[in-house]
Amino acid sequence: MTDAKTLARARHLVEDSLSEKRCSHVFAVTEEMRLLARVFELSDVENDLLLAALLHDITKEKTLEAQLQLCAEYGIILSAEDRAVPKGLHAITGAAFAAREFSLDAPFADALRWHTTGRANMTLYDKLLFLADYIEKTRTWGPCRVLRRLFWKQIKSAKTREEKEDVLNHVVRVGLDSTLQDLLEEERFIHPDTVAARNDLLYREANR
Ligand SMILES: [Fe+2]
Ligand SMILES: [Fe+2]
Repeated sequence: MTDAKTLARARHLVEDSLSEKRCSHVFAVTEEMRLLARVFELSDVENDLLLAALLHDITKEKTLEAQLQLCAEYGIILSAEDRAVPKGLHAITGAAFAAREFSLDAPFADALRWHTTGRANMTLYDKLLFLADYIEKTRTWGPCRVLRRLFWKQIKSAKTREEKEDVLNHVVRVGLDSTLQDLLEEERFIHPDTVAARNDLLYREANR
């Protein structure tokens, strides 16, 4: 259970650790998460979700060497695929940091862990952090604008929790598709967890 004091400590750490531009992004993700928590009526875990949002990029500006050092400190064993996507390491080290230094409970630390790649069977919290990171207000990349509009348009007509989760699944899948297209165009390595996340959500859409 995360209290207001812990959130304030995380805010200060963000300000002390990250560049101005990344701070704006992180605070925008946190605001987006607040809105999403209301939509999904998650007031009981809102603070935990906000803490995950505040800390989601906390190790992003560390060098590769420092990331690997953190992995060693936390006893994290990286797969060959994890090593092939150095940009994704901050999700792994950030989740371990949030759990150890801020006592972030596992379901929320997991959301942080999977916020860049996604994974098969993404939980509601995984999807909410993925989406908040993707559509927060300061993002201007075309697919982010498209996804932001799509989510807020479709969620208006969703009444039940089930309908809302259907919208979330669809929108996250569309976001993953954009990410995959981008990676293909740039001829970059694709983490298999991203493919697994996308296929899993597509399967759910087809079988609902
Ligand atoms: Fe990130
Ligand atoms: Fe981010």
